Parts: sequence; C-alpha cells; structure tokens
Amino acid sequence: MSHADQWLLEHARVVTLTPSSGYGLIEEGALLLRGETLAWVGRRDELPLRLVGEAQRIDCGGRLLTPALIDCHTHLIYAGDRANEFEWRLQGRSYAEIARSGGGILSSVRATRVASDAVLLGSAQQRLAQWLADGVGTLEIKSGYGLDRENELRMLRVARQLGESSGLQIRTTLLAAHALPPEYAGRADDYIELVCREILPAAVAEGLADAVDAFCEGIGFSLAQTRRVFDAAKQLGLPVKLHAEQLSDLRGTRLVAEFGGLSADHIEYSCAEDLAALAAAGGVGVLLPAAFLCLRETQVPDIAAMRACALPMAVATDHNPGTSPCLSLRHAMNLACTLFRLTPEEALRGVTVHAAKALGLADRGQLRPGLRADLALWDLQHPAELSYWMGAAPVHQLWVGGRRLR
Ligand code: NIG
Ligand code: FE
Repeated sequence: MSHADQWLLEHARVVTLTPSSGYGLIEEGALLLRGETLAWVGRRDELPLRLVGEAQRIDCGGRLLTPALIDCHTHLIYAGDRANEFEWRLQGRSYAEIARSGGGILSSVRATRVASDAVLLGSAQQRLAQWLADGVGTLEIKSGYGLDRENELRMLRVARQLGESSGLQIRTTLLAAHALPPEYAGRADDYIELVCREILPAAVAEGLADAVDAFCEGIGFSLAQTRRVFDAAKQLGLPVKLHAEQLSDLRGTRLVAEFGGLSADHIEYSCAEDLAALAAAGGVGVLLPAAFLCLRETQVPDIAAMRACALPMAVATDHNPGTSPCLSLRHAMNLACTLFRLTPEEALRGVTVHAAKALGLADRGQLRPGLRADLALWDLQHPAELSYWMGAAPVHQLWVGGRRLR
C-alpha cells in the first residue's frame, strides 16, 4: 500500500460512539486510516509509533471528529417540485385530500416519467451537494416516482450513477408500491401483482435494489397488499422496510417485525406493543420529523415507548418534493430534538449507528478499527452542537472510504 493511502488524523476530539451509551469521546484523539479502513483509533499519546509508518499527517486543530453521517430515508431522485401544494396546504387543503385529487405523489410521477435520465441525474447531483456539505457519507435513495417497470428501474439506475459520480455511498430501495399509478386506477391488486411479478424481479436481475419498501396507508396500500410485496421481496432474498403509521395505525410496524425487516419509518401512530415487537425482531424505528413538521402533524411518535423497549431510533430527512423538502440531515436532527424531544446524543446515534443498522450495514456508523474510514470533521467543539445549530453547515472535512471528498 502506498503512503498516499495512509493518513494519520491527529489532535481531534473524537466521537467514537462505541460505548452503548454516551458519546465515547476521546480528547486529543488520533485515527489511522489505511485504504478504505480505520486501522487505529485512540488517544494520540497511546498510538504505537511503529504503526504510523509513512502515513501522511493531518492536524485536526482540536476539532470534533465523528463518523460520517448516514441519511437512511430519502426520495432524492425526482423531477419538478411541489411548491404549489405547499401553498394549497397553507390554504387549508390536506395532504390526503391533494393526493386523492390526483396531486401529491402522482404529480411527481408525471414529472419524473417525462424527464430524461440526464435531468434526473443533474437535479439530484445539485441537491446532493447539500448532503456533502452536511457531512453525510452514506445515503439511501428510493424509487417510487416511476410506478412502472421502465421508470422504477430508471430511477434506481440514476441512483447508482449518482453514487459513482459523487463518491458517496448510495443504498437503493425499490418503492414501486408508493402510490397507485393512474393507468391502474381502481385495480390496486393488479398493480401489486405487477410489482411482485415483474418490477421486483427485474430490479433484482439488474442488481438495482438493496431493499424493498412500500407505503402502507389509507392513501397508499393496505396491509394485505403490503404483505404480498414483502412476500415477493422475501422470496427474492431482499430485506424489507416500510412507510408505516404516518397518518393512521394500519399495524404496518408489526408486519415489519413479522418479516424481520430493517425498519419501520414515520411511525407516529404505532402502538407500544408493535414498537416492542419491532425491537424484539431486531428492527429500527426511523423518525422523520421534517415530514411531520411540513404536514403540521400533531401526533408525536411514542418516544417513551421506544426507549422503554430499547428500540434503536434512527433519524432521517425523508427528503422528497411533497412532504419534506428538507435538504439538511442536521436540520432533521434539530427537529428530532425540538419536536420529538430526543436528546442530542440520541439524534447523533440516529444518524450514525442506528441509521447504519436501518440500512443493514455493520461496517460504519462508529469509529473503531476495522470499520470503514467514513469521517466528518467539524468546526465544532461539542457533539450536541450538531443538533443545536440551525442553518449553515459547519463541516470542515468529509472522508468516505478513506478518500477525502471535502
Ligand atoms: O415519506 N408518505 C409517503 N411517501 C413520502 C412522501 C412522498 C411524496 O409526497 O411525494 C413520505 O412522506
Ligand atoms: Fe418517505
């Protein structure tokens, strides 16, 4: 290995997040990066000299060093925007009402279907710059604005291209069961059949999907339809996750638990019993406070119940043109604290360790030897500041897989 692949980051306040509680802070810490991997993490004065070798040194100047952040729920790829619906909602129309009258998700589907690959990629690249500026190293992206075989697959291909062009780690999720496409109006079961028989196998055949998601809701798909999608995913060996209990309780959270799924997301209306089942099944609860805020929802997720059953809580932007035009994962952390009363430590775990778990990734989200060298260096002193500041991104350096991106 050439010395260009070895870096020693020293004089940092290192937030390891390795203990099961607390920040795991190391003052005057150092990290040794070898290739894509963390080779050593600890106090600078305990670093064995023989390990340093030819590593190039970087003085972190006492700055805060954390794992690169992970946004485990986004709909980053789409065309157009829905600022008009923002205005309508402010005039008193509800999200569900707008969706039922052909707007909402279907409005983004119309725009996305007619957009070229270049337009989808270009607009997503432009937005993605905000995630880089926020210290994000891994990002999940869902399909769901294509709703036919060609366009669902096209969205996932663009997501893969985005990973290649940006250097960020992208995880893709097939969300063909996001809404009923107009050509299937009144025939939801037939559409689910198409998703299970055609779209899902085609995505798997091309290696385009890391997981499968659905929107289980009155304005989405029923629990029985969601179960069919999950069964098909299971047969193809793909993990599942779910938009569950955002507007009502259809017991989607319990279904995720039953399938040993990765996560139940939104979960404002989930009951304590189902949250406990999810925890027992090894799942993650993903909190999406920006969507909650933008829809001016009032049903706060049952955080006390999640804590009581030790359900790992992740926090994500849910970036999408309808319910969450949020471009900052740190802003979502702030909202998780102010709206849902998470502690800043819980919010940080929510965008690192627990977000990694929600994506089924065991190789990132903490700072310890053997994990990926995905790091964010901040112009900050205390980890609570990551949730505290609103606005301008204080990231100083971003490393993904041992490569410096910023
Ligand atoms: O996570 N709830 C369904 N899906 C998205 C919204 C998508 C949209 O409105 O375009 C969500 O909030
Ligand atoms: Fe979503």
